[in-house]
Amino acid sequence: MELYEVLNKRRSIRAYKPTPVEDDKLRRILDAARLAPSAANRQPISFIVVKDNNIKQKLKDAYLRNGFLQRPIIICACGLPDKAWKRGDGKTYVDVDVTIAMDHLILAATAEGLGTCWIAAFKPKVIKEVLNIPNNIEPLVLTPLGYPEVIPEPTYRKPLEEIIREIK
Ligand SMILES: Cc1cc2nc3c(=O)[nH]c(=O)nc-3n(C[C@H](O)[C@H](O)[C@H](O)COP(=O)(O)O)c2cc1C
Repeated sequence: MELYEVLNKRRSIRAYKPTPVEDDKLRRILDAARLAPSAANRQPISFIVVKDNNIKQKLKDAYLRNGFLQRPIIICACGLPDKAWKRGDGKTYVDVDVTIAMDHLILAATAEGLGTCWIAAFKPKVIKEVLNIPNNIEPLVLTPLGYPEVIPEPTYRKPLEEIIREIK
């Protein structure tokens, strides 16, 4: 699929078919995340891939709005703040690095015909407990990964003029 088609086709998918995701597709999608750029090439990222139904059941407590069980795979994108590049004023770029990698993953999933949905409104304490994440690693965003059951209409975007300030 051509890049602009992927960008136009991506949606937040909140209903999934139970169809399993093929291993080769999953690997290509994760590899797309690996290719992402990062500040000073520190690559302060890690991904936890959850297929186990018992763990998915436990993850339900971390995100009450949707059950996780019907989603074939849950991916948790984590940041490694100690490894991330910091600007001179101390600002860390770990969130930016994880976000870029996650967007690579999400767009690759779209190109493979799979659905995803950024999820930030989870309880980090529960996620850390259930996924056994040590203190120096921060879970930043989750996504389900699976074949879409329902593909929603595109959501509203501001017009280009509203988000661009041109200095000539
Ligand atoms: C950083 C981030 C966090 C998000 N967190 C959630 C979330 O916790 N739950 C949810 O249902 N959607 C979440 N979303 C999805 C947005 O609601 C969605 O991207 C937006 O409404 C635009 O719709 P679209 O993705 O279908 O284009 C999140 C998106 C981003 C980028």
